[in-house]
Amino acid sequence: MGVHEPVKLREKGAVKAPKRLRKSHKDDRQLHLPLSQILDGDCVEAMRSLPTDSVDLIFADPPYNLQLGGDLNRPDGSQVDAVTDHWDQFDSFQIYDKFTRDWLTEARRVLKPDGGLWVIGSYHNIYRVGAILQDLGFWILNDIVWRKTNPMPNFKGTRFTNAHETLLWCSQGEKSRYHFNYRAMKTLNDELQMRSDWVLPICSGGERLKEGGTKVHPTQKPESLLYRVLLATTDKGDVVLDPFFGTGTTGAVAKRLGREWIGCERESIYRDAALKRIAKELPLDESAIETMQSKKAAPRVAFGALVENGMIKPGTKVFDKKRRWTATVRADGSLSLDSDPKKMGSIHGLGKDLQDAPSCNGWTFWHFEDGSEIKLVDAVRQLYLLSIED
Ligand SMILES: C[S@@+](CC[C@H](N)C(=O)[O-])C[C@H]1O[C@@H](n2cnc3c(N)ncnc32)[C@H](O)[C@@H]1O
Repeated sequence: MGVHEPVKLREKGAVKAPKRLRKSHKDDRQLHLPLSQILDGDCVEAMRSLPTDSVDLIFADPPYNLQLGGDLNRPDGSQVDAVTDHWDQFDSFQIYDKFTRDWLTEARRVLKPDGGLWVIGSYHNIYRVGAILQDLGFWILNDIVWRKTNPMPNFKGTRFTNAHETLLWCSQGEKSRYHFNYRAMKTLNDELQMRSDWVLPICSGGERLKEGGTKVHPTQKPESLLYRVLLATTDKGDVVLDPFFGTGTTGAVAKRLGREWIGCERESIYRDAALKRIAKELPLDESAIETMQSKKAAPRVAFGALVENGMIKPGTKVFDKKRRWTATVRADGSLSLDSDPKKMGSIHGLGKDLQDAPSCNGWTFWHFEDGSEIKLVDAVRQLYLLSIED
C-alpha cells in the first residue's frame, strides 16, 4: 500500500484554471504519485492514498461477477478454463453494487477534472456499472463494443456465442474537456473515422502469460485493446491508473507508449507476474510515440499571417469549389467579392455571408490556382504550420 496522504488540491466551487495552467501543475502533482508501482491490497484503500485530481486516465477491468457455478466441459470432456476465482465472486448484486460504487467514488476523486475513465465489462456487470457511474456524475462518451475475432464457443449450445465485451468511456461530467486524439485514431484506421466497434482478438499466443503451461491470469486483456485506449485518450507523459491491475497489461502498454502508470492489485501472484512483464517492456523511441495532431490541437493560424509572409500574395483570386463566387485577397488578409466589391470580410465571414450559413470554415471553402493545380487555402496553412514546427 502507498503512504501518500490525500492532498486536497481542488476546493469546491473554485474557479477552474485555464487548461494550460492546469497542465503546468502536472509535475508538482506527479511528485506525490507512486509512479511505476503496484499498490498492494484493496484498490479502494489504495486509491485513498493518492492525491485528489492527480491522474489523467483510469482504465478499470473490475471483477465481472460472472456467477459461474460448477465445472464447464468441452464436447471432448476436457475442462474449460472458466473464471471461478474468489476475487470474481460476490454474494449478491447489492454487494457487487456497493463494491462498484466504492471504487468508482475513489476513482472520481483521484481523476483530474478533465480526465477520462474507461471501464470494461460484460453483460454480467456492465449495465450495473453504467448506471452507478452515471449516478455518481460521470458522463458516458461512448460504449465501445470489443468484438472478439476468436471468442470462446458456447460449449453447451444453449445460448448465442458470447463474442463481445463492452467498454464505457466517460468524462467527469457533461462539460469536461476530456482528451481525445481524434486525428491519431483516424490515421490508425486508414483515414476513416474510428468507429465504436473494435474487432480485436482475445489475448493468446506469446502475449499470454503462462507458468508451467498454465495461464497466470484467467482474464488477461489483449495489449492491442489497451494500445488503442491509451493512444486515443492520453498523451505522452500522462499518468494512467489501473485499479484492477491483474498481470499489468495497462502498465506494459503504458510504458511502451511513454505514459506513466500506477496499478492496484490484491493478489501477489499477479503483482509479481506484472512486475516481471513490465520490466521486460521497452519504451518506444520518443519520435515513434508522436502521433498525428488534429487541426484543433495545431496552433491557430490567421489567414493574414500567410499574406504577411508572402505565402499567399495580395491580389490572389480565390473561389469556392463550384466557382459560384470569386474574391480577391487584400493586403490585410481580408477578401472582397469580385462581382460586388462592397461585399467583403474575412475568409470565414465572407464565405458565411455568401452562403447565408450560420458559419463557414474559410480554410476549406476557398480555393486558388497554383499553376495548373487547384488547391484549398488550407494547403498553404499546412505548409505554414510545417515551416514553424521546431
Ligand atoms: C479482470 S482482472 C484484471 C486483469 C487485467 N486487466 C490483465 O490484463 O491482467 C481483475 C483483477 O482485479 C483484482 N482485484 C479484484 N478485486 C480487487 C480489489 N478490491 N482491489 C484490488 N484488486 C482487486 C483481481 O485480483 C484481478 O487480478
